[in-house]
Amino acid sequence: MAYQFTKDLETGNSLIDSEHRQLIDAVNSLLDACAKGQGRTQLVNTAQFLLNYTNKHFADEEALQVKYRYPDYTRHKKIHDDFKKQASDFVKKIQSEGPTVANVGQINTLLAGWLINHIKGEDKKLAAFIKSNG
Ligand SMILES: [Fe+2]
Repeated sequence: MAYQFTKDLETGNSLIDSEHRQLIDAVNSLLDACAKGQGRTQLVNTAQFLLNYTNKHFADEEALQVKYRYPDYTRHKKIHDDFKKQASDFVKKIQSEGPTVANVGQINTLLAGWLINHIKGEDKKLAAFIKSNG
């Protein structure tokens, strides 16, 4: 079942929300590539796209934090950096092992679960700060 960008995931910041939509789409494409057994090339491409887009999105979010002098920048950036490391390790794993049951499980927990949690917590805090200080 595909993940949905539901109302409770909206932060109210249009840039952040549109990038979050893309990220959810990218997770769904990766799950799709696994489910349909689309072949290694497609799987690798989808995984790589997700990783690249995550890096771009984090960079955009961090630039906003710097621009608005977000007081929690250092902590938020560290959370991003830790996730980037975990995600890139995982993408290497999926590239070498393919869509095993364990790897598909990790897409759901490590990638989608993490993302949804992060959006609902940290990113909503950030968007609220930008809104009241913009
Ligand atoms: Fe974030």
